[in-house]
Amino acid sequence: MYRTRLGGKLDGDVLAYVSSMADDAAIARHDILGSIAHTVMLSESGLVSRKDASAILGALLAIKPGSLKGGGGAEDIHELVEAKVVARAGDAGRRLHTARSRNDQVSLDIRMKLRDDINSISALAAELVGALLKVASRHTKTVMPLYTHLQHAQYGTLSHYLLAYADSLLRDIDRLASAYGRIDCSPLGASAIGGTSLKIDRRRTAGLLGFGGIAENSIDATSSRDHVAEYAADIAIMMSGLSRMAEDLVIWSTSEFAFIELGDAISSPSSVMPQKKNPDVLELTRAKAADAIGQLVSILGASKGLATGYGRDLQQAKIPAWRASQTAAGALAVMRAVILGMSVSKDGMARATSSGYLDALEVAETLVADNGVPFRDAHGVVARLVRMAHDAGVGLGELDAGQLRKAQAGIRIPKGALVRAIAQAGPQKALQRRKSRGSAGFAEQSRMLRSRTAALGAARKAISRRERVVSRAYRVLEQKARRLSSG
Ligand code: ARG
Repeated sequence: MYRTRLGGKLDGDVLAYVSSMADDAAIARHDILGSIAHTVMLSESGLVSRKDASAILGALLAIKPGSLKGGGGAEDIHELVEAKVVARAGDAGRRLHTARSRNDQVSLDIRMKLRDDINSISALAAELVGALLKVASRHTKTVMPLYTHLQHAQYGTLSHYLLAYADSLLRDIDRLASAYGRIDCSPLGASAIGGTSLKIDRRRTAGLLGFGGIAENSIDATSSRDHVAEYAADIAIMMSGLSRMAEDLVIWSTSEFAFIELGDAISSPSSVMPQKKNPDVLELTRAKAADAIGQLVSILGASKGLATGYGRDLQQAKIPAWRASQTAAGALAVMRAVILGMSVSKDGMARATSSGYLDALEVAETLVADNGVPFRDAHGVVARLVRMAHDAGVGLGELDAGQLRKAQAGIRIPKGALVRAIAQAGPQKALQRRKSRGSAGFAEQSRMLRSRTAALGAARKAISRRERVVSRAYRVLEQKARRLSSG
């Protein structure tokens, strides 16, 4: 439609190469809505007559976004929508692109889609947090080992672990909410790069589309994609967290650990080994996190070397952004199913706490708390005990009086204190005693569950508030367009 200067049609292979039609299906509806808002504003500003606006709006409303697939020779959705409007509304349609460029248009569509994606992905993330809290509430007394370097570290509770990932996801939701504020600015009216001499009202189109504000500087509005990179970074960060959780669950579901058994509905069989129940969904979550990181890198790579102003490179940055949304939506839904469907072996977890000297730090801290022993001394004594017990292949409680005496040689510890400390060191007593804020201690579990449930409620409210602003704006805009097109 724009080839007057060039003459002739675009070569077929070149059209396939430059076309963004396949990726534009995702922004078809946004493109039409953006055009509707633009037309309403043009009419209100007196740049297009009521009659012409009415014809254009009628044509825009008649387009079914889902039908805009093939492209019919158009290079992108913007050209195709305009061509359809011209075909239907005739000369009036030739006024649609007044005071507008595909550069502000595509930037608008991307921002509108990312608003939707942030809302739907945040809602899915909130669902996963809900699942984590639900399972956590059943396991506030389920003891397990905590690991550092994947070596036994301290006694823990399963709820504490699940709450850790709830916190991580709540931060992901928060990060997306913050990015939303920067994305929720309308670039429409920036034109190709430098604005327009026609008297448009940029705030009006922004308002009609439910934007919180405008991306003011027309150079910035058309040529920056930092908000797209920011979105992809937030997704990559979230996926990295999910990947770590997936890795834990893969390990926990091995026969060696046997902490959990994955639900049948999410497990994969082997084509040859009849006994297999494989955690493929978790493995894919790990690998898809790598995709998400790659998507961020693609976006940054496509934009980092661009001379200021729109360059077609930016078209390529849409693809990884869309992919990031797809990846995250799939992973969040699947991880929720995994969490809700897994069965937990309390016995398996409890059994694992009896080996690996998880009581070592408990004994040392008891000596500090009850007997005022300097921590470094307590650490030294218990380390000696662990060494002796390890060599003898027994637990700390099985060492004899002579060994205990030997371990505390040269360190001032009241008589009997070490025996008492060891006797108090089981997981139940230790987790009863552990009170530090945010710890694995039993008391902290119920407090954190309550506070995260409240945080989840607030996050859900904020998400639906944002969804309502957008859907209401679109509804009102479409009603207005229908009225104007029939009037
Ligand atoms: N299809 C293009 C994109 O996705 C739209 C903008 C084209 N603008 C241009 N001046 N060639 O980025």
